Amino acid sequence: MSDFLPLNGTDHVELYVGNAKQSAHYFKTAFGFQDLAYAGLETGLKDRTSYVLKQDKIVLVLTSALTASSPINDHLVTHGDGVKNVALWVDDATQSWKETTSRGAESAFEPYTLTDEHGSVVMAGIKAYGDTVHVFVERTNYRGAFMPGYIPLNREFQPADCGLKFIDHMVGNVGWGEMNTWVEFYAKVMGFNQLVSFDDKDISTEYTALMSKVMSNGNGRIKFPINEPAEGRKKSQIEEYIDFYGGPGVQHLALATDNIIETVTALRARGVDFLMVPDTYYDEVLDRVGEIDEDLAPLRELGILVDRDDEGYLLQLFTKPLMDRPTVFIEIIQRKGAKSFGKGNFKALFESIEREQERRGTL
Ligand code: FE2
Repeated sequence: MSDFLPLNGTDHVELYVGNAKQSAHYFKTAFGFQDLAYAGLETGLKDRTSYVLKQDKIVLVLTSALTASSPINDHLVTHGDGVKNVALWVDDATQSWKETTSRGAESAFEPYTLTDEHGSVVMAGIKAYGDTVHVFVERTNYRGAFMPGYIPLNREFQPADCGLKFIDHMVGNVGWGEMNTWVEFYAKVMGFNQLVSFDDKDISTEYTALMSKVMSNGNGRIKFPINEPAEGRKKSQIEEYIDFYGGPGVQHLALATDNIIETVTALRARGVDFLMVPDTYYDEVLDRVGEIDEDLAPLRELGILVDRDDEGYLLQLFTKPLMDRPTVFIEIIQRKGAKSFGKGNFKALFESIEREQERRGTL
């Protein structure tokens, strides 16, 4: 069967934030993103400003309201800083919008075209979980920095990159009993397939639990795990997210690197805070995952986790929430054959997250 929604990859991720200028500085300084483009008062916008940052294939757009009447403020009041638009790169945005809305997606905005001297970009949007929107971006032949309306940004302060290459997956947290609704949405409306499934028996600790299913598009370039809370003795980390985010939303972006030891060393030196597992994790990890290329010592020192599936292994690590609210975080991942998502690490990780929840009084 032909793919009715061919996706070339992630185009960009747009976060609505309280102060885009300072967020941009943070993502540059802490994570090694580089200036790409800018839109704001200087480009004729009256109500908002956006900084566009890039690291290899990863493009982040950080957007803030400039006036009290902007609807961006409503998003900010409800959710705090968070992901608004998960934009997908397509060859035909109008067709993508038609295919998905005809299968039951609610339109966020109809297809429209932006043009400047560098070409045209067509965009259309459909609503996903919570206030999250999937934007289809068609940029065939566009030669400008980002898209019409943006000017190139290339400031003198440009910290080195941290070896982050592309978005491996993006995880959504949804509310109680909503996981299968959204699994069905991705299957029916977007033609995705379910990759792996694990239930709350697989992912639970003494106190907290979650359920998760992973949806992937036809060519595997887009992977969206969907989490929902599960009943445990204490509050699930997914429930904590939903409480503080004010509903469903993007929980984490997983960013891929070819050398996780170098990347995490750089990120730590730049002040990124990661979740740490107990040292005992490393006493047992090789019994669980078998032989790996890396020395254990730097993994232990940096808190990098290892998991294996039938096809290989992966190395991963999770930051603490990036925001004041315990909501959005970033995962750093290096795949060495494994196509899974680190299920074997979840228990060790959850215990680490629970220690943080304990400190926040939200367990
Ligand atoms: Fe992940």
